[in-house]
Formats: sequence, structure tokens, C-alpha cells
Amino acid sequence: MEYIERFAEDVREGLSSEPKYLHSKYFYDEVGDNLFQQIMELEEYYLTDCEAQIFENNKDEILDCFSDDGGVFDLIEFGAGDGLKTKILLNHFVDNNVNFNYIPIDISESVLDSLTEDLNNTLPDLVNKPICDDYFHALEELNKLDYNKKVILFLGSNIGNFRGDNAIPFLKHLGADMSNKDQLFIGFDLMKDPRVILDAYNDKEGITAEFNFNLLDRINNELGGNFQRENFSHYPSYNPITGETKSYLISLKHQTVRLEKLSQSFTFEKWEPVFTEISQKYSLRDIDHLANHSGFKVEKNFFDNKSYFADSLWHLL
Ligand code: AVI
Repeated sequence: MEYIERFAEDVREGLSSEPKYLHSKYFYDEVGDNLFQQIMELEEYYLTDCEAQIFENNKDEILDCFSDDGGVFDLIEFGAGDGLKTKILLNHFVDNNVNFNYIPIDISESVLDSLTEDLNNTLPDLVNKPICDDYFHALEELNKLDYNKKVILFLGSNIGNFRGDNAIPFLKHLGADMSNKDQLFIGFDLMKDPRVILDAYNDKEGITAEFNFNLLDRINNELGGNFQRENFSHYPSYNPITGETKSYLISLKHQTVRLEKLSQSFTFEKWEPVFTEISQKYSLRDIDHLANHSGFKVEKNFFDNKSYFADSLWHLL
């Protein structure tokens, strides 16, 4: 199915459901990518700085773990983005003449192009082999190409954006494409003061709200919708028992929105929520549970100074 057809079907399904929802993967068009870059620079959005600190403070030990057998390895990054944090590790590895290939995988050609341009300028000695594809297809292709040890990076607590129990099948699928010598290095945002978490998704400048509203703009632009963003409000919530941080768009009035592409209208009641994103927060027990239930074992956890975030190194059980 064409991308636009898939998008239209997902929107139809989500807005016809009770309660209504939209998929957060559709946040990321060019505008959304840009807004997310701005989010990562916000004071309230601690995740990025924490993970950068983990890399900065532990780069020697991380390198020892990745190159434990002394051979060449493929450092494969899922959803590399601007690679800013990863560059801390890349710099360190290149400085130490480590024998590795950096393989960023992303479905966005433009994201990979700008990353490659940047890496060519700042790290000319890096062996960079970007792949523009979905994660699993890229991994299958890679497995046909070489038998190098693979270290897969899945950073930034991207795993927290999977809904329901979908993280487990994703990780199991990943494990099926890995061998015993391979490792997965995966970022988790940890449970902490609920106020700190809530502020990260409700910044004063309103960039996160913009990010959420961008979904409505996309539907308007790509599916011929007539959403009026001033008729909705951005509402983040955090449940300290489950660790679920959920964002919603709340309808501020009774309204009907037409989507030409679907030849369909959708009615929203006053105060009706549309669930748009989950950003799961984890306890260390949750991390162990997730690893064990998806066929992995936690080798080591790395933390920032405040223990707000963990990068967890896993191998197959
Ligand atoms: C990409 N992902 C890990 C971010 C998060 O924290 O869930 C996306 C985001 N949503 C709102 N702010 C940032």
C-alpha cells in the first residue's frame, strides 16, 4: 500500500475508534522532524542531555563492551536522526582507531543525507554506510552481506513510543535477526519525579504542543482535512503507577471535521480526547522484564548522574 493510503487508513481507523487515537509515527514529516530537534534542545526535555552525559562519562567502558572480542564490528543505529549524541561515541571510537563500520538506518532519505554530510565534514575517517530502509529489511540485507559482530543502537527511549505490548514483538523480531555475539544498546527513560516528566512534555514555549498539533496540519495538508487547531488543546498526562506518559489532543467544542481524501466526516464531542502518543517511563524491573520476555538478557546498565535515564546493553538469552 502507498504511504499516503496507509496514512489515510490509519487516520480513518483511529478517528472511528472509541476512544479516538492517531499514531505518533505520523508526527515525523519535515516540520515534525524539525520540531523534535527543537524539543531536544528544550531545558525541560532532559532525555537528550542525560543520554549524552551517559556516553560522555562511560565512553571507555562502552567501547570495551562493544569491542569485547577485539574484532571489527558494525555499529547499526536505528532512527539515527541528527546523530548528535551518537557522535560522542563515534568521535571516541575514531580517536582510538577502533575497527568498526557505522551503519545508520532511517526511512527518511533527507535525514540520512544531512547526517552523512555532517559526518563527512566532522569525522572524515569514519566508515559510514547509511541505509535508507525500514529497520528489519535493512537488518536482513546486512545479515546477507557480512558476518561482523553487530551492535544495534536504539537510543533516545524510542522504545517508549510503542503502544500496548508492541515493544515485545518488535524486540523479539530484532532478536531473531541477531546472533549470540551481537548486542543491543537500548535507551530507556526512567521513572522519576512525576513533575519533571510532565514538564518535559508540557514545555513553557509550547514546542511540544506544536509537535502534537502538527499531526492535525499534516492531516489537513495530505488528506484534505479542515481541522482547526485552535479548537483543540495539547494535554499531556503521567501515571506514576504504570509509567505511562500519554499525550492527547482535547476537542474544545462539539465539532465536525471533514477529510476529503476519505470522503468522510468525524464528529468530536466537547472535551473528547484524541490519544496521540505514549512515552513509556520504566523502572529497572520493567527493563529486566522487557528483556527477559523478548529473549534477551541485560548485560549492563549505564546511568546519568541523576539516574534519570538508562542505556541498557543486552545480548540474546
Ligand atoms: C522520540 N521520542 C522518544 C520522544 C518521546 O519523548 O517520547 C518524542 C516526543 N514526544 C514529545 N516530546 C518528545
